[in-house]
Amino acid sequence: QQPVRIAPSILSADFARLGEEVRAIDAAGADWIHVDVMDGHFVPNITIGPGVVKALRAHSDKPFDVHLMIAPVDPFIQAFAEAGADCISVHPESGPHLHRTLQSIKALGKRAGVVLNPATPVEVVDTVLDLVDLVLVMSVNPGFGGQKFITSQLDKIAALRARIDASGREIDLEVDGGIDAETAPLAIAAGADALVAGTATFRGGPDKYAENIATLRGAR
Ligand code: DX5
Ligand code: ZN
Repeated sequence: QQPVRIAPSILSADFARLGEEVRAIDAAGADWIHVDVMDGHFVPNITIGPGVVKALRAHSDKPFDVHLMIAPVDPFIQAFAEAGADCISVHPESGPHLHRTLQSIKALGKRAGVVLNPATPVEVVDTVLDLVDLVLVMSVNPGFGGQKFITSQLDKIAALRARIDASGREIDLEVDGGIDAETAPLAIAAGADALVAGTATFRGGPDKYAENIATLRGAR
């Protein structure tokens, strides 16, 4: 079994020092840099746009795992691709044509991800599994860091693991929201192979990032 990938969400970083924070989590062992993009419309919070992604690109060579919580999403795909995203993940609810949106991400040479909200059924992925490189399960409702892990999502993670294995394709199964030392082992046991962690990565300040990431990675 491959060690689980840890993707710190910079939503919990110090936004006044974002470049330094990205360098610090890179040095602390982050596998991917998770970037939460929110528009105050699809979700009730506003974060950053492609300009900030572009500015951060120089601070790490690790893959940028860009999670778009914006609607309509299609007009912004190219801007995030050009800003330096490596993987672009979208919610089915953020545009009228999920298949076309995923095709457009692939056409830009990027990895494509589909994100399932807690109430979004697993069946949504069945018709796009041939197009995606990543499935992201939200274990909180999107919009804010620091929320409690919704345990009912574990069955969904397991159901997606079965679908991905049956597909024979190399698709990452990532879980996002409320991941900490207690919930990480549950998500991994259900079949996750990548974990997003905001609060649990950044708590305690830069001196703790390496220890925090190692704790999540070792959680089994
Ligand atoms: C929520 C975001 C998450 C969030 C995770 O909308 O997609 O990535 O930052 O934060 P924690 O790990 O604090 O739950
Ligand atoms: Zn996220």
